[in-house]
Amino acid sequence: MSEATVPVLILKEGASRTRGRDAQRNNILAAKVVTETIRTTLGPQGMDKMLVSGMGDVVITNDGATIMKELDVQHPAAKMLVEVAKSQDNEVGDGTTTAVVLAGELLTKAEKLLDQEVHPTVIVEGYKKASEKALEILQNLSVDIQPEDEKTLGLVAMTSMATKSLSESKGHFATLATKAVLQVMEHRDGKIVADIDRIKVVKKKGESMEQSELIRGVIVDKEISHPQMPKQVKNAKIGLLNAKLEIEKTEFDAKININSPDQMKRFLDEEETMLREMTDKIEKSGANVVFCEKGIDDLALHFLAKKNILAAKNLSSSDMEKLAKATGATILASTKDISAEALGDAKLVEEVKIGDDKLVYVRDCRDPRAVTVMIRGGSEHVVDEAERSFHDALCVVRNAVEDRKIVAGGGAPEAETAKQLRDYAVKVGGREQLAIEAYAEALEAVPLTIAENAGLDPIDIMVELRSKHAEPQNKWFGVQVKTGKIADMFADNVIEPLRVKQQVVKSATEAASMLLRIDDVVSSKGGKEMGPPGGMPPGGMGGMPGGMPPGMM
Ligand SMILES: Nc1ncnc2c1ncn2[C@@H]1O[C@H](COP(=O)(O)OP(=O)(O)O)[C@@H](O)[C@H]1O
Ligand SMILES: [Mg+2]
Repeated sequence: MSEATVPVLILKEGASRTRGRDAQRNNILAAKVVTETIRTTLGPQGMDKMLVSGMGDVVITNDGATIMKELDVQHPAAKMLVEVAKSQDNEVGDGTTTAVVLAGELLTKAEKLLDQEVHPTVIVEGYKKASEKALEILQNLSVDIQPEDEKTLGLVAMTSMATKSLSESKGHFATLATKAVLQVMEHRDGKIVADIDRIKVVKKKGESMEQSELIRGVIVDKEISHPQMPKQVKNAKIGLLNAKLEIEKTEFDAKININSPDQMKRFLDEEETMLREMTDKIEKSGANVVFCEKGIDDLALHFLAKKNILAAKNLSSSDMEKLAKATGATILASTKDISAEALGDAKLVEEVKIGDDKLVYVRDCRDPRAVTVMIRGGSEHVVDEAERSFHDALCVVRNAVEDRKIVAGGGAPEAETAKQLRDYAVKVGGREQLAIEAYAEALEAVPLTIAENAGLDPIDIMVELRSKHAEPQNKWFGVQVKTGKIADMFADNVIEPLRVKQQVVKSATEAASMLLRIDDVVSSKGGKEMGPPGGMPPGGMGGMPGGMPPGMM
């Protein structure tokens, strides 16, 4: 670098800059360190991570997205990998670790090419071609299923949960996930849509995971609002109100002059009459259960209790919407509109006490378009991790139902795609060929890491896997960690949705390419150079030693 004798200041004082190969190397190193941290969690024998936040909160998890979120990394390149995990999680809900591992591996391979003087743009271009081809290969590999094929969907759910600590109960949870998704699935303009936002997941510590259940309806996290109300209503007729059952208070302070006890009584009587009319109206509609998004006056509660109507107040709007979808009721803006047609049905509404909490269960709706899963487990950590894993399961079942396309797991699709990519690379030729071959090798990191994490010899496994995939009929061979051998993963029922594998390719390639295109890092944070990978920027920043609290990146 040649310096001018008279310095021209362009950047703020304290700003730093790294350029060219240095910038690339730093970024790649940072990304690699993050990948190293997370790769040990991949696959059924992957380990869990215990993450302790600045506040001392402990999270024990195997979930890639959660680990990345809680890692609280500082280096900008490392943060981009956090983004990979996030986008993978948002788009498809599973495959987060795989995406980060692939991104890290793509960068590692890119570094080797950079060392061989292959220009970054050539690598990026080669990676782009390779990823497009990989998507096509995966698509051609995939197998069609029927959307109602409960058995296969259950296997998809089980594969995703096999890698988690709840794997002991994965059969039970797989059934819950499959039934829940199929219950909310809809055909819309020739397409199948399974909106998993319609599946409410509630978790409560206690009992065992096997006690987790699917409710064909909604669990409302509120108690019944009056002690004299029935705790249980069979053949419920449910009214949903988005209106106060109270006397409207005026916006401004109004003064009422009351000059005699008689007037006072009339005034109170007036209020009482209004509340009585509202509750009479509810009773007349035939409702025996009322859920209200707003408050209910004590006197109104008293009237409702006398009429043997069960009521709960101050519900969240999302619960109200789910209740409407589950019971078929219409949400009403005023008690004036309540009528028999606006009511919904459920076989049973009851208050259930779990630990110290009381909840209202709306059970056995006829054809609920929203359902609830109650997750139980021995401790707070167990139910938290079960909830995360169950979310993955719901996502993969949704993916499989909507696309009706599946592939095998255990690294089989990655190994097969790698093989076909190598054939393709030869056809492309030139320097890009090197990049495409590097991409193929990076894909093989998936079976390799699964094997490594299961204590198998990665080299033996890779040699064997490659020789198997030389034959077209062996395309589904992957690493079966249960036996420690190479096996046909389809035959072994290790099945994943195509969408997850395709998204892995997309998210990882995007992140790797973006990092490779950077040849200049300018940081106005101060310090002489970019900080050590995954760590804090050195010096000059004493203000933020602990970094941001987790979840704020
Ligand atoms: N029995 C099995 N043998 C080998 N691999 C498996 C088995 N069950 C699941 N897998 C694989 O584990 C990988 C997923 O691991 P996981 O830790 O959940 O990471 P991710 O966050 O990427 O989903 C997938 O490639 C999946 O096919
Ligand atoms: Mg997974």
